Amino acid sequence: MDIPEPDLHEGSILVEAIAVGVCGTDVEIVEGKYGWAPHGQTHLVLGHESLGRVIDPGLSAGFKKGDLVVGIVRRPDPVPCSNCAVGEWDMCSNGQYTERGIKEINGYMSERWRIEPEYAIKIDPALGILGVLLEPATVVAKALEQVKFIGRRSYWEPRTLVVTGAGPIGLLAALFAKMYGMDVHVLDRMESGPKPDLVSELGATYHSGSIMDLDFEPDTIIECTGVGQVISESIQKLGANGILCLAGIGHGGTVRSVSLANVAASAVLRNNVIFGSVNANKRHWYKASQFLAKADRKWLSKLITRVERPENFMSALERKPDDIKVVIQFSGI
Ligand code: BGC
Repeated sequence: MDIPEPDLHEGSILVEAIAVGVCGTDVEIVEGKYGWAPHGQTHLVLGHESLGRVIDPGLSAGFKKGDLVVGIVRRPDPVPCSNCAVGEWDMCSNGQYTERGIKEINGYMSERWRIEPEYAIKIDPALGILGVLLEPATVVAKALEQVKFIGRRSYWEPRTLVVTGAGPIGLLAALFAKMYGMDVHVLDRMESGPKPDLVSELGATYHSGSIMDLDFEPDTIIECTGVGQVISESIQKLGANGILCLAGIGHGGTVRSVSLANVAASAVLRNNVIFGSVNANKRHWYKASQFLAKADRKWLSKLITRVERPENFMSALERKPDDIKVVIQFSGI
């Protein structure tokens, strides 16, 4: 669609889009299962995994023309709730937060967009197009930080970490956990294609079966599939004092022959923590950019398996078997 040039009230920095990553959330919005248009409007501009180049920094001293920037997704609720008041909008407690490209504010999937300086993250130009991976990396940085915080409830020396689902979030979680020095295992239903190789290149172990077949009980599980059966098995397989982070958002489906009370009893008897994690605040954006800057760029570049032109956005939203991260490229880097 042709849409008006971004309005100054959307932020003093004017940005030319370079690329936008596509994720499951975008697909759900397009399918009408999730997402909200801005109040009083019938359309929402998609796109929350951004990368752009500053065309006009406005009066903001910290930015100059040509800087590569990524836009933060969430904005605090206007009340604000106490979490939003202290900058922890990722933990918004009244649900009135907004999100660019997802909830009530237009996203970054347009040739030009504007952003407030305090929500623009400047990235190392050496990252180039890989900067588009920053947003998913922030989701992972938050999830792993939360695991670490929760682990402090007792004496805990986690060694093994299992990731279920080798999509972008799962693979970035495996990468960061390896950087933390953990013994990392990744489970996915794919038996071939790029995923097994990416995992072994990290020095992690790839499994294509069920988590129940593992010959050890993980200290930490990062669940990225959102599939009921995988979640239920993850709870049953978690080791003593283990932590299960639910990071995948699923819909529907039923779990085969399982007693919820027995699953819960297994969690009780092992002091397990099962928690959900969504979004990221500025601390996580900072941590994620540090991680990405240190990561192997050759490996990171293999996560971007398909680049589409904006006019082919419908094909970008399709899920092909070997896809990991599909990116829509608006302009050259
Ligand atoms: C985004 C998050 C967002 C969540 C829920 C995810 O796809 O990465 O930033 O909070 O969707 O809307």
